[in-house]
Amino acid sequence: MSDSASLIRSAPWARLAARAADPEASAIRARLIADPNRFARFSRTGAGLLIDFSRTALDGALLDDLLALAEAAGLRAFLRRMAAGAWVNATERRAALHVALRAPRSAGYRARTADGWEDASGTIHAELDRMHGFVTGVHSGTITAANGTPFANVLNLGIGGSDLGPAMVTEALAHTGARLDARFVGNVDGHALAPVLDRLDPARTLVLIASKSFTTQETMANAAVAREWLAAKLGEARIGQHLAALSTNLHATDAFGIPRDRVFGFRDWVGGRFSLWSPIGLAIALARGWEVFASLLAGAHAMDAHALTAPPRRNLPMLLALMHTWHATFLGRPAYACLPYDQRLARLPAWLQQLEMESNGKRVDLAGRPVSFPTAPVVFGEPGTNVQHSFGQLLHQGTAVIPADLILVARPDHGLRANHRILLAHAAAQGAALALGRSEEEAVAELASSGIDQARAAELGPHRTFPGNRPTIGIILPRLDPHHLGALLSLYEHKVALQAALWGINAFDQWGVELGKTLAGGTEAALATGDTAALDPATAGLVVALRRLTG
Ligand code: F6P
Repeated sequence: MSDSASLIRSAPWARLAARAADPEASAIRARLIADPNRFARFSRTGAGLLIDFSRTALDGALLDDLLALAEAAGLRAFLRRMAAGAWVNATERRAALHVALRAPRSAGYRARTADGWEDASGTIHAELDRMHGFVTGVHSGTITAANGTPFANVLNLGIGGSDLGPAMVTEALAHTGARLDARFVGNVDGHALAPVLDRLDPARTLVLIASKSFTTQETMANAAVAREWLAAKLGEARIGQHLAALSTNLHATDAFGIPRDRVFGFRDWVGGRFSLWSPIGLAIALARGWEVFASLLAGAHAMDAHALTAPPRRNLPMLLALMHTWHATFLGRPAYACLPYDQRLARLPAWLQQLEMESNGKRVDLAGRPVSFPTAPVVFGEPGTNVQHSFGQLLHQGTAVIPADLILVARPDHGLRANHRILLAHAAAQGAALALGRSEEEAVAELASSGIDQARAAELGPHRTFPGNRPTIGIILPRLDPHHLGALLSLYEHKVALQAALWGINAFDQWGVELGKTLAGGTEAALATGDTAALDPATAGLVVALRRLTG
């Protein structure tokens, strides 16, 4: 992990900063035209995925400089320290061992804890065995609802990392089959929970309370509602059979009344946004089957192995981290778009938003000093081709250059071949249009050749001009199966951790979410009582207005 202040004084940083100041450095169109072999030269494969950097400004010299920066920042050493269970989460004095969650039993991962070193692989596999037994029991009908019938539904109550990952994966892999119908409620907004409870039969529903801390107010509020909902139909004595908890906090799960055999635990060295591979992923296994969950883990492990062993020049997470850093930090691009050209990945951008922005939305380095360069950009996205009829306009002609990751799945799991061909064609064409653009001259000539008079063509020319030189990175999955999805998610996890290591910030804490939580406590009390004395004038005014409106 680097020291941000000394890294920016390093020779590779200086070279990259100088390069970024030269407009030629971000030219993509010229590079594409000059080199017919760009795709072969700047695409890489690993863990079954293919990444195409040919539609960025990457060239041999930029690659060398970026790799020199990676070397100066000690990125490979950082990955090894992370996998060795060291306290890479310095502010919380914790390891970040999500790689161990998807490694085989024999991997022998160890995590540093406050009391020494823990057998992480042993702890993880003991819990995986329990999860496997539970899932098998639910599917085979040996673990049933209180009335003896098999469960039909699973309701996951959790927020942030305890929701986004499992919900996204469960949706993405719907085509692998439905063992149980799965619902996910994260928001404390009753408009999220109430309609779901209205549609579910408590007598057929297994409720998972997914919370690493088991103190998150929103989840605990929803859990209390669900508990009452179960009790009203089943009676207090029988609700235990309909509940399970996924948490690190056994005291709190005990206090909630969940029997230990219904608690699936993990440790604090699993970060919330890196936790879908832990018991937090139980809903995936219940909804899609144990084999699917196991294959997801195996795919992530394949990418972990690649990340830890592939040389930097061929290392997918390393190259993705470096190119994203080139865009965000050196070229100052304020955002990037995640555009999955697969409807099943509709929730991928939401998952990625937490992963990127909660991890790397940081303004001080590990030593607590303000960083002097941009860290995480804003991440946003939607599935293609919908994007093209929405914010795609801004990507092509807006004033800001917004890089995009285009995620393509080669083989679909439906029989609508023409639709899929159209989808892939659009994805490929978007990359081409963004990179190549269309000059004003070309636009005018095209208009003129379509029979439009010169004056009108000249008038429309600027509006129909595309500046081009807008980078996209293609990520291609052969199929959206559990294995390749696991590899894709692991790719992004490593990319995020590597960028943090490069910037010298901590990817694994999230102090920025705390202040709002603290203030919400006082605001809630004021909403209940009307006593606004402790609030700032704006919040007090809002509370008074809301109380007046709610009667
Ligand atoms: O929003 C902050 C956060 O702590 C996330 O990091 C986490 O994923 C989410 O809340 C939920 O936390 P928990 O799983 O402890 O309920």
